[in-house]
Amino acid sequence: MDVQDIPVEIVDQIGAIQNLSFPRQGYTSLVAKIQTRDHQFIIKKTEHALFNEWLSEEYLALQYLSTTGLPVPKPYAFHIQDRSRWLLMDYIDGISLRHYLGSKPDLRDREKVISHYGLCLKKIHESQCPVELRKNDQSWLDTMLMKASRNLTNYHVEGTEELLIRLKNNRPKPIENTLIHGDFHTNNVLVNNNKVIGIIDWPRAAFGDPRFDIALAIRPKQDVFDQEGDQDVFFESYGRVRITDEEYRYFQEGLYKFF
Ligand SMILES: Nc1ncnc2c1ncn2[C@@H]1O[C@H](COP(=O)(O)OP(=O)(O)O)[C@@H](O)[C@H]1O
Ligand SMILES: [Mg+2]
Repeated sequence: MDVQDIPVEIVDQIGAIQNLSFPRQGYTSLVAKIQTRDHQFIIKKTEHALFNEWLSEEYLALQYLSTTGLPVPKPYAFHIQDRSRWLLMDYIDGISLRHYLGSKPDLRDREKVISHYGLCLKKIHESQCPVELRKNDQSWLDTMLMKASRNLTNYHVEGTEELLIRLKNNRPKPIENTLIHGDFHTNNVLVNNNKVIGIIDWPRAAFGDPRFDIALAIRPKQDVFDQEGDQDVFFESYGRVRITDEEYRYFQEGLYKFF
């Protein structure tokens, strides 16, 4: 992507682009930071049918979430151009928690930021869920299993037919819905100065099962939730419920494999 590729409608809206740079990328999109005379934006571009759908859902979710007080980027525009989709939003000046933990911060900083990460998830789960996200005709899990089935049929996903059948037949016990992020892991949390300052990547925001967020949040990776005690620090500040190993597996090693 270079400056010429940015749709003219977006340039008209934000003014001349002085600089384009590329932060660490995710998996579904191409993301660039745009500097104009007086503002810093992020532009997120997708080209794949499924990711295009997610980007338009993210745009809606960011609008709904803007009144919650949660640290989410303000959305400015969504643009359709042939097979691409473009989402323009505010730049948040931080690095991903994953990247930060990989930089081997000292132990106290590490604990502080993991604790704040847990607190942020508590805030999400205790926020008033925007009404637009509450309009479900069926349960959140039914919707997710239906989407999982559709993704399995139409796209390349890690999950298998057999796994999906198991998920349908062995649902976790019901729990009260809350506002959930739907992809809450350390890549989608931006930190600065040992504090979470931004939560990004919201296409799956919903009134749903908070255990899905918890399971994704605590997944161990290199330098991330790979030390004894990380989970304790997280759950101490999260302070709501702990999930069982079985629930963790259902969501992290099960349902998530279809998204
Ligand atoms: N609003 C933002 N402010 C700062 N950086 C961002 C912002 N949105 C995305 N990024 C950067 O781009 C990366 C990918 O964005 P993300 O929305 O997570 O896309 P993907 O769906 O591809 O994972 C993030 O990990 C982060 O480095
Ligand atoms: Mg992401």
